[in-house]
Amino acid sequence: MNKYINFEEKHGIFHLKTENTSYALKIHDSGHLQHLYYGALIKVINDSIIPFNQEFNQSVKHHDTKLNFSLEELTLEYPGYGFSDFRESAYELELKNGISQMEFTYSRHEIYSGKKSLEGLPAVYYESGDNTESLEITCTSNNGVELILKYTAFYDFDIITRSVLVRNNSVNPVNLTKLASCSIDFYNSDYSFLSLTGKWGREKHVKRQDLTAGKYSIESRRGISGHHHNPFLAVFEKNCSEDSGNVFGFNLVYSGNFLSSLEVSQTEMLRVQLGINPFKFRWKLNPGETFQSPEAVLTFSTLGFNGISQNFHKVFRKRLCRGKFRDAERPVIYNNWEATYFDFDDAKLENLAEKAAELGVEIFVLDDGWFGKRNDDRSSLGDWFVNTGKLQKGLSGFAEKLSIRNMKLGLWFEPEMISEKSDLFSAHPDWIFQVPGTKPCEGRYQFVLDFSRKEVTDYVYERVSDILRNNPISYIKWDMNRALTDVFSRELGSENQGELFHRYVLGLYSVLEKLNCDFPDILFESCSSGGGRLDPGMLYYMPQTWTSDNTDAGERMLIQYGTSYAYPQSSFTSHVSESPNHQINRITKISDRINTAFLSNFGLELNLMKLSEAESMDLKKTIIKYKKSRKTVQYGDFYRILNPFESNYSSWLIINNVKDEFIVFTAQLKTESDYRKIRLKLKGLDSGRKYMELNSGKIYHADMLQNAGLPVDFDKGDFSSKLFFFEAVD
Ligand code: DGJ
Repeated sequence: MNKYINFEEKHGIFHLKTENTSYALKIHDSGHLQHLYYGALIKVINDSIIPFNQEFNQSVKHHDTKLNFSLEELTLEYPGYGFSDFRESAYELELKNGISQMEFTYSRHEIYSGKKSLEGLPAVYYESGDNTESLEITCTSNNGVELILKYTAFYDFDIITRSVLVRNNSVNPVNLTKLASCSIDFYNSDYSFLSLTGKWGREKHVKRQDLTAGKYSIESRRGISGHHHNPFLAVFEKNCSEDSGNVFGFNLVYSGNFLSSLEVSQTEMLRVQLGINPFKFRWKLNPGETFQSPEAVLTFSTLGFNGISQNFHKVFRKRLCRGKFRDAERPVIYNNWEATYFDFDDAKLENLAEKAAELGVEIFVLDDGWFGKRNDDRSSLGDWFVNTGKLQKGLSGFAEKLSIRNMKLGLWFEPEMISEKSDLFSAHPDWIFQVPGTKPCEGRYQFVLDFSRKEVTDYVYERVSDILRNNPISYIKWDMNRALTDVFSRELGSENQGELFHRYVLGLYSVLEKLNCDFPDILFESCSSGGGRLDPGMLYYMPQTWTSDNTDAGERMLIQYGTSYAYPQSSFTSHVSESPNHQINRITKISDRINTAFLSNFGLELNLMKLSEAESMDLKKTIIKYKKSRKTVQYGDFYRILNPFESNYSSWLIINNVKDEFIVFTAQLKTESDYRKIRLKLKGLDSGRKYMELNSGKIYHADMLQNAGLPVDFDKGDFSSKLFFFEAVD
């Protein structure tokens, strides 16, 4: 007997349950799958949930004339184009004989406990003991092609995952040109949606839009998920706030071209789809072959945006991130990038290391410039050999110096790229993406390696792993600094070039998987000129990400607020950098830089030799405090409080799961002439309990903090901030 996925045979209704949500679909009399419901838990679902068809005049009728209906009148579960539905299809296939309209109807299903992994792709996983069940529905067409719709209900997480597998059981090749990971039709369209948009140095800005007639899309055509958009999408009822109202959350476990789209139909139903971007996508499936889509992750909450964020945080932290760092306290790091850029040698690094050790840093991350002849960004990517001109005692020599000071070594790589000026390029100029007969486009003076080729990924694995085997490296920053262009592979046939964007991502995932397996003690951090590839796909291999190249505290008050909608604080890193800030030249106080970076993975990225006594003392005290509270900081429940995109303040709070410790960050963006003291209404506390604020020693009742609010008196000055530490006293 299944507990979380029921099938009611009489009406052909599937009901997937999580602790607080229900998801239901039905085998329509025509054999198509009809979407019935997604939302708050309905304990028992029966045929009374089946909606009226949204009939309209002049609709084209489906060819099953006995039923006298149009597919366009229904909320569908995985729709195709043609045969009476004119909305966006979830899949597109082309047969050899030119047929490109195919319909799939229910054939069989299987329900089982747990979840199977997706071959070659990252996905949310199941651990024994979880209350998790899966459903696979096979739909067939009359051309010998099958679609297998995969669902998993993660009861304990309020998460439903969906993906699709296509199997070509025909005797001819089939071209797949679109395969959404999920499609879901809402009966009404009176929703708005929220997405995370931006650009380099300005990632994850929050944008809300009302839905009216037409189509909306959030997408990437850059080969990476990108700075400009993120696959995350929230669809919400119009009166929603951070803490109340019905919100649906969607994300895609994928790091390449994606399309998250919304369409309001003429009868005002809403279709939401997420998947690989069909742009330039064309995958040839020979007889007997299969294609697995990436996985979409869905959640729903009646508790507003914080509700869906917490669901995503929990599942990404516990069932997407893997390995020993999933639950481990993350180290305080020092990164030398903004202190030295490419200009360093043993002496400079050792001085910085000595100072970093005094401050309490645990890992020294040596950023770009340690290899080949790399003295600026114009050369040497691909030549992953230590530059012994700069590091005369090699990486091991530097690691020894760190070890004496109780610190470990972290190292920067950018393995997917190649510089024209490099030994690797001289030896293998044909290893890059390049359209025959044209000069490839440069981005930051570099080309993209063709990761669809095994010899290329083998070389990359061999070079990176050689460095890791021969040097005591504890941490890797895996960078990627340009979008893909010239996407043509010399090795793929003309019929397969449309597979390349996806093959690049698969090649990347295969290298990362091997590195994860072979080096389980290394903490991986991903980066793509900051947050250009912060997506669930990368989190499967690397549990943390460099959030943005913009280290200005004021900008980070927005970027980190936006990032928290989709990603847990344990997945993003924040560093205290210099003032004036290197990206935007803004002057901020060190306390504001510390406060803004504190509630995530904390680090330093500034010239430590220039610190004043007072600044050193501040940083030292901060790191002691951080280490004491980092378990709560990194793994506690995150609540957004004041929204910097809609007010003059930014504020968030993190509380541990037993609710006896919490920390509050709050900042005023611009000083006002008659500047105001505010009362900050806290959230998520154990009401009825008393808490002491540790800086002031004042004791407050939780109810007073949540209802009347914590009095906050900002110092004068733009981006002036406060950090409050609370502990329960009863
Ligand atoms: C871009 C990253 O985001 C920076 O932090 C730094 O690692 C540079 N690349 C190095 O080239």
